[in-house]
Amino acid sequence: MTEAQSTPLAFGQPAAAVPDWHPSDWRQRPVVQVPDWPDAEALARVEGQLRKLPPLVFAGEARRLEQKLAAVSRGDAFLLQGGDCAESFAEFSANNIRDTLRALLQMAIVLTFGGRKPVVKVGRLAGQFAKPRSSPTETVVLPDGSEITLPAYRGDMVNGMEADADRRRPDPGRLIEAYHQSTSTLNLLRAFTSGGYADLHEVHRWNLDFVRQSPAGDRYAQMAGRLGEALEFMEAIGISSASAPQLATAELYTSHEALILEYEEALTRVDSTTGRYYDCSAHLLWIGDRTRDPEGAHVRFLQGIGNPVGLKCGPSLSPDTLLRLCDKLNPANRPGRLLLISRMGAGKVETALPPLLKAVEREGRHVAWACDPMHGNTVRSSVGLKTRAFEDIISEVKGFFAAHEAVGTHPGGLHIEMTGQNVTECLGGGDAITEDRLGHRYHTHCDPRLNANQALELAFLIAEKLAAR
Ligand code: PEP
Ligand code: CO
Repeated sequence: MTEAQSTPLAFGQPAAAVPDWHPSDWRQRPVVQVPDWPDAEALARVEGQLRKLPPLVFAGEARRLEQKLAAVSRGDAFLLQGGDCAESFAEFSANNIRDTLRALLQMAIVLTFGGRKPVVKVGRLAGQFAKPRSSPTETVVLPDGSEITLPAYRGDMVNGMEADADRRRPDPGRLIEAYHQSTSTLNLLRAFTSGGYADLHEVHRWNLDFVRQSPAGDRYAQMAGRLGEALEFMEAIGISSASAPQLATAELYTSHEALILEYEEALTRVDSTTGRYYDCSAHLLWIGDRTRDPEGAHVRFLQGIGNPVGLKCGPSLSPDTLLRLCDKLNPANRPGRLLLISRMGAGKVETALPPLLKAVEREGRHVAWACDPMHGNTVRSSVGLKTRAFEDIISEVKGFFAAHEAVGTHPGGLHIEMTGQNVTECLGGGDAITEDRLGHRYHTHCDPRLNANQALELAFLIAEKLAAR
């Protein structure tokens, strides 16, 4: 992998999926949801630095993920994509990364064991630092009761969350800090997944203490017991980690919303194996529901990279626009290239999703479908904190499965905001979090996440749905 502009193309192939595409040509398109960088020179300097830094992922890994997503689109595998709404500099620690991984591994094992399908694991990790916002400014009430209007917090990659005008000023130096945090996060994840932590013989140990005491934790312990017996049996007939390395390691891919295009452009490199451009900041990049204008900058950027790409599909997306976006983002109609992430809201999914499923099916587009049951179900609680009711999340997941059942398409995956921590951000679930308890451990930097318990409970529900199919 070498620097984009300086590398000649191999094999005389086009470097991008679309003709005449270049990593910088999003700059000529209308762009929304971007920070108002106050110092253009400082930004340009940072971009120059980023261009020289090594890629985070290898293009061959992104191609491997594309193959896995092709299996998802055929209904032969299930996608589990999860992690923080927004990663933060303050909460960066080995324990946090380990606990998120552990919760993802637990969910994946429940889905594999109960659903009898391979699970493709993708973290919202190692780069998920920028947020689209509903308003460019935010009015904050200070401790003394006075009010102050500030630029909105756009994620640690852009500005600080504190209610302070200096901290809210977009600072390009944060792009470099986000890059370095992403590299250490990915390094630790690679160590955990290949160094023994993800070994199936360790499934008992993934049950976190606070999860162990819950009904979902109990159910998990029972399942881990059965899995342990199956592994002992396999060992008795000669199948062990030595002969079947997949028992001892896990494959985890990374993803984030490609929002800050200066960062994504600087990490886009020509792959020396194929001569194609890849955005080497993550394996998979997605476009948010607010930046999916077919003629806009974000779609233009993602058009040309070789990575698999995701597209958030909210209730205002029409079937015609979706088909236009499929043409733009996946002109060759390659299975595994395009992941459509439905985020309709519990009350809307059963009416809003089927027309999209039907249009894509009728036009023969190869896509994988996943359900994000989080972003259509955000409400403001009576105590003023943003929250989501676990029952709405469950209801959207059920609606997603029902819509696919009705149309005859594959409910391919789940996209969630979750953490391995014992937070109190979403209402309900096994330990019945109530509005008055939301403030106890409300740590998110943006949207409310499922805690490890709620995430596990959701995994059991989906495993049942998959088994029933
Ligand atoms: C997100 O995934 O954090 C997000 C902002 O989603 P959406 O674009 O679907 O609103
Ligand atoms: Co979010």
